[in-house]
Amino acid sequence: MYLKNIKVKGFRNINNANLSFNKNVNVIVGENAQGKTNLLESIFLLSGSRSFRGSKEKEMIKETEKSFYIEGNFDEPEKQVKYASLLENGKLIKKVIKNDKAYKSSRTLVGHFPMTAFSPDDLLLIKGSPSLRRDFLDSILCSLFPSYLSNINHYEKIVMHKNKLLKEEADEKIVEVYSMQMAKYGTSITLSRLELIEKIKPYIKKFFNEMANGRDSIDIFYECSSFDIKEVGIKSTNELCEDYLNKMLENKDKENFSKQCLYGPHRDELKIFINGKEAKSFASQGQIRSAVISLILAKTELIKNILNKAPIVILDDVMSELDSTRQKFILDKIKDFQVFISCCQKDIFENRKNKSVFEVKNGEILKIEE
Ligand SMILES: Nc1ncnc2c1ncn2[C@@H]1O[C@H](COP(=O)(O)OP(=O)(O)O)[C@@H](O)[C@H]1O
Ligand SMILES: [Mg+2]
Repeated sequence: MYLKNIKVKGFRNINNANLSFNKNVNVIVGENAQGKTNLLESIFLLSGSRSFRGSKEKEMIKETEKSFYIEGNFDEPEKQVKYASLLENGKLIKKVIKNDKAYKSSRTLVGHFPMTAFSPDDLLLIKGSPSLRRDFLDSILCSLFPSYLSNINHYEKIVMHKNKLLKEEADEKIVEVYSMQMAKYGTSITLSRLELIEKIKPYIKKFFNEMANGRDSIDIFYECSSFDIKEVGIKSTNELCEDYLNKMLENKDKENFSKQCLYGPHRDELKIFINGKEAKSFASQGQIRSAVISLILAKTELIKNILNKAPIVILDDVMSELDSTRQKFILDKIKDFQVFISCCQKDIFENRKNKSVFEVKNGEILKIEE
């Protein structure tokens, strides 16, 4: 799958851009703070996922405007996306049209135009908080199974309500109703994550091992707070759900004392080990980079194989952080995908065929090489 062209209006510092893209590599060059990431962010929104920058859409509207508009055309039977966000009386209204049909939410785009993104912030995946690693798993599951997103949203709302009840020291019977709901949705989320880990693990190991020339090895495990994962495949989903509920009931004094939900997928951890040691505490800068690259490449490859559609790969400002061997490794692994890659200098792409180069200056974008 590839993005043929895009129109962007009133998006951050981009006033008006009308660009047609290469189906292989698109290099976005420019000095700092010119709008390279802004362009990548506008492309990524067409996938239906939240910004890889974690920003709010309100902030994406150009300071002097009341709305932004993005239109993308893909080489697909379902090929056109029109995406607008406008401010009306301080409220954000979103309009999403896919092939002339209007939808209420950009989530309806998820899975149709899959994209994976890699930005310098992703280096935090290894040493940052467990929620970043859970989000990594959840973002893949959302691309693959749009219903997973509503499960997660539902679960998070229940956790929020139960936390509130625990703070208010509400009646035990009411808290229990929420625990039952948590067990139902939480079990399904945990099982989906466990299944994903089994599928993605071989890809991560392979990429990491190749990058380290066989010297280093990586492994990943899921640490589960709700039930014993050794029982998965032995016990039924209902039994696991019951175990999880019992865990909450047996530990209700602890939850009452800490006034928050202590068990469930919102407390689980994706453990990453390099050469048998936990990466969070022991990995070197180089190992962290290789691990993150392996995770993102594995995600890209897995989505391609399951959806039978090659996701678009967005690489924001990552090349400058990498040595030339790793740069070559990435470029080699993504040669079958459409790639958007931002950088300050275009020299590393000098000898690459099948590329277009765009220069960004103060929000103006110009194609400088076909
Ligand atoms: N909502 C907005 N309206 C206008 N300008 C914005 C908005 N959001 C960010 N910018 C501007 O965009 C520029 C940063 O663009 P960015 O794409 O991050 O740069 P880079 O080329 O370094 O990737 C900054 O000058 C910032 O002020
Ligand atoms: Mg940038």
